[in-house]
Amino acid sequence: CGGSDKKETSAPAAEGDGGYTKEKPLVIKFSHVTSIDSVKGKAADAFAKLVDEKTEGKVKVEVYPSSQLYGDNDELDALVSGNVHMIAPSVTKMVKIDPRWQYVDMPYLFENQEHVRKFFNSDLAKTILESDQLAANDIKGLAFWENGFKHFSNNQRPLVNVEDFKGLKFRAQAGKVLEAQFKALNAGSATIAFGETYAALQQGTVDGAENPFNNFDTQKYQEVQNYLSVSAHGRLDYAIFVNKTFWEGIPTDLLAAVEESLDEATTLAWELATEENEKSFENIKNSGIEVTELTDAQKEAIKNQLEPVYEEFTDVITEELINGIRDLK
Ligand code: LMR
Repeated sequence: CGGSDKKETSAPAAEGDGGYTKEKPLVIKFSHVTSIDSVKGKAADAFAKLVDEKTEGKVKVEVYPSSQLYGDNDELDALVSGNVHMIAPSVTKMVKIDPRWQYVDMPYLFENQEHVRKFFNSDLAKTILESDQLAANDIKGLAFWENGFKHFSNNQRPLVNVEDFKGLKFRAQAGKVLEAQFKALNAGSATIAFGETYAALQQGTVDGAENPFNNFDTQKYQEVQNYLSVSAHGRLDYAIFVNKTFWEGIPTDLLAAVEESLDEATTLAWELATEENEKSFENIKNSGIEVTELTDAQKEAIKNQLEPVYEEFTDVITEELINGIRDLK
């Protein structure tokens, strides 16, 4: 490019539309692991449509759902290397870059959805979304997308009391906090990619899992799990991460339209999180599996049993983040 040694992507962004057209659009590759009918899948497709409309086709967002292009193990690396430009992982998967993202796994840290949204809108959330650790990996964090509270499921027995977890093995997403959570319940865990979890449950590699209703339902775990307890013990939420060099190279007018689209898609993602999880809960209840709605006292007992997770990980997540989140409720 023009005899310069610099990579093309590090050039300053062009003004206007940079010469992109409907016929030769700028392509943003967006990879994710859930299905097209999930909260994230629907929000990602809506974002692509908004970008198409607002840029008159000059920017094309290619969405690759269901781990089609990259799965849990490689989507972050693909973002860092620029092979995809945008991902929306469950934030705990950012543990490789910054262990503070495991805030999301801390048991019963968030009281309710309103508390989660206050956090997303807070300066505290900005500090982690705009951290140096991300920038050092050429990643920019742009927005939080909501999913929901996680609930335990398994194949062996209803999980009502702390003792019921003993000896069972659960699929975990990633990271030491989730491992410690299951250990505190005298259960085992294995990190298994989202795209491989159905098979792992079906084959009995693990007995159980933890998911928001919508992920459970859209992955059809009803087919491979017999019991679900409405425990709401942790969160599963997303953040939008982009390759920083790529993003900063988007021509100015197009970037403005893309960012406006992302704001609108983010609002939609939050609405979808409520609606789709409610719908999925009904589907699960109608599916024939045994659903137990835990009482406050039963949840409290699980919460107490999980206290060692705070002892072990408060320093890692930082008191600033944990207390800051608590103060928002
Ligand atoms: C999981 O692995 O359970 C989640 O990350 C899936 C997702 O992206 O919602």
